[in-house]
Amino acid sequence: MKRLLRGLAALVLTLASAVFVLIRRLLRGGGSGRSLRTGPSRSGAVDAGGRLDPVVERRASRRIGVLLLASIAAALGLLVVYARGGQPQLEGALLGVALGGIGMALILWGKHLFPAEEVTGDREPHPSERGERDAAERSFAEGGRPVARRAFLARLLIGAAGALGLAAIFPIRSLGPSPGTSLLRTSWRRGFRLVTEEGVPIRAIELQPGSAVTVFPEGHLGEPDSVAVVVKVEPGLLHLPPDRADWAPEGNVCYSKLCTHAGCPVGLYSAETHQLQCPCHQSAFDVTAAAEPVFGPAARPLPQLPITVDENGYLTAAGDFSDPVGPGFWNREAGIPDSDSKG
Ligand code: FES
Repeated sequence: MKRLLRGLAALVLTLASAVFVLIRRLLRGGGSGRSLRTGPSRSGAVDAGGRLDPVVERRASRRIGVLLLASIAAALGLLVVYARGGQPQLEGALLGVALGGIGMALILWGKHLFPAEEVTGDREPHPSERGERDAAERSFAEGGRPVARRAFLARLLIGAAGALGLAAIFPIRSLGPSPGTSLLRTSWRRGFRLVTEEGVPIRAIELQPGSAVTVFPEGHLGEPDSVAVVVKVEPGLLHLPPDRADWAPEGNVCYSKLCTHAGCPVGLYSAETHQLQCPCHQSAFDVTAAAEPVFGPAARPLPQLPITVDENGYLTAAGDFSDPVGPGFWNREAGIPDSDSKG
């Protein structure tokens, strides 16, 4: 791998220096070779009749071809480097050569292969002289080779753009695998016992009214999205929605511990007001009323965990939370403002 990277680095440096030398020679008018500026036009590559000098045109075409080939090689090199694990400096250099090659080729194309002269003529209809028609036919015939050469350059240009496009598609892989439904679910499943942070299961009769205990699914201690808090209240105080009537056996009610405002742990419980409180921005949730927010910036209730009691008297989950936990894109889907805009 290291040898490959070294080889590619050497290739890039060679290409870059070749491009640099080429640019310098172009700016100096071709160095020891024949200058491209041979006439009075913008490109200097046309004769008095507005035709491109074939020698100059051939030379410009060669240079454009070299630049486009360098661009293709660099784009393919970029592809290989990325696929082999990537190397930021080398990727940057290759991208520079790929883009620079196309850019320089386009500049040279515009500068040397397009006549600069503006030609105007009278519009009165008059037939061409025989000699003029012959000259036009000769000119057309002579133009065949440059046209063919430019078709080749056009194909090279398309190849360079295609190779660069291919290299640009690969980084999509860096976005990683799709999260799928993993953001919508936690580790809680039907039959998982509620255990304390030490991994101790909790009996339904164990908790005293007014107490609150942090719990995890048994076997999934410490999983951040599964953390919950089970609170014991007098069963008569609870007014849960009808479809959750059996979610709080003997007054044990369980909610996600992740604040729906910005995800802080809702770590404080006020037994007097029956409120779970978030210390970050003082949101408060009424545990007797399905954890509806009653104060602060949180706009969504804490998701509730359906719980039941197993044959040994332990508190056990009857499924996953009622809703996705914490703040997230589901807030936006529900039309709830982002936490930033609410403070
Ligand atoms: S994170 Fe809980 S109120 Fe802001």
